[in-house]
Amino acid sequence: MQQEQITKMEDYIQRNITMATSSKSAKNKRKQLERIERIDKPLKDLKRAQMSFSIEKTSHKEVLQVRDIDIYVGVNTERKPLLKKISFQLRRGEKVALIGPNGVGKSTLLKTLIDDYKPESGVITWGNGVTIAYYDQEQSTLHPNNTILDELWNTFPHIEEARIRTVLGNFLFTGEDVFKKISALSGGEKARVALSKLMLQEANVLIIDEPTNHLDLFSKGVLESALMNYEGTLFFISHDRYFLNKLADKMLELYPTGALVYNGNYDDYVEAKSQKEKEVAGLLTRE
Ligand SMILES: Nc1ncnc2c1ncn2[C@@H]1O[C@H](COP(=O)(O)OP(=O)(O)OP(=O)(O)O)[C@@H](O)[C@H]1O
Ligand SMILES: [Mg+2]
Repeated sequence: MQQEQITKMEDYIQRNITMATSSKSAKNKRKQLERIERIDKPLKDLKRAQMSFSIEKTSHKEVLQVRDIDIYVGVNTERKPLLKKISFQLRRGEKVALIGPNGVGKSTLLKTLIDDYKPESGVITWGNGVTIAYYDQEQSTLHPNNTILDELWNTFPHIEEARIRTVLGNFLFTGEDVFKKISALSGGEKARVALSKLMLQEANVLIIDEPTNHLDLFSKGVLESALMNYEGTLFFISHDRYFLNKLADKMLELYPTGALVYNGNYDDYVEAKSQKEKEVAGLLTRE
């Protein structure tokens, strides 16, 4: 293994670099070592290219049908409608972004889809063979007292440690890192643990709520290329224009009173909207 070789060479250099007789050969070894470390950098990219969200089994091509759902929030006298008459569908392999202003109810809609909330009325029908993995905006699905490794092990007791460590390694948790407690992690680290969990589920539908919020550039890149190659159905929320453009082939824009579908990526959506506004303005001035 390369790591073993590096350690041995480092040892050799340490032991010999100050001794006159073998110093030359130690210096040579150091040169060799520098060369090894240089090829280490592209290795990271290699890992990134190989990393993917795989699927255990495929779903039926009709993945989700949402018909006329109303969602209320709050309790008792505080209870009020948040979203009304929401209808849309997802088909296998689509990558759909859910967009809309802060507080409109995007996260609440996702939670309703995964059965965390019940809609007041309307019907949600998941297709045959659908398996869902969900990424929470708040990472509230992680257990604070677990170590990173335990968090994954408890969720996936049948997956071998080597596979878990590979996925964690892809998200930059190596060696002793995996023994850190969840409660001691930064927002970015928690996001990376949650993404590792998502990847190990091998679900054919990914429902993802603002995954790039706390991510560093490297992890964002890893996630982006993994999701681009994902063959399942992706339904995600993001405010990141670059991410939206890269990943989405459809936009679902959420309003308090309905949802509108736009085909294309985010730039296409902006274009279509400004076109519509121009048309409306044109109609108004002609009147
Ligand atoms: N259980 C609840 N009880 C009362 N109000 C709630 C509940 N859940 C959500 N809300 C309210 O519903 C509104 C929509 O929240 P939600 O988190 O779904 O919005 P969002 O579109 O995801 O916003 P953001 O882009 O900021 O993430 C908010 O005003 C929130 O306070
Ligand atoms: Mg939200």
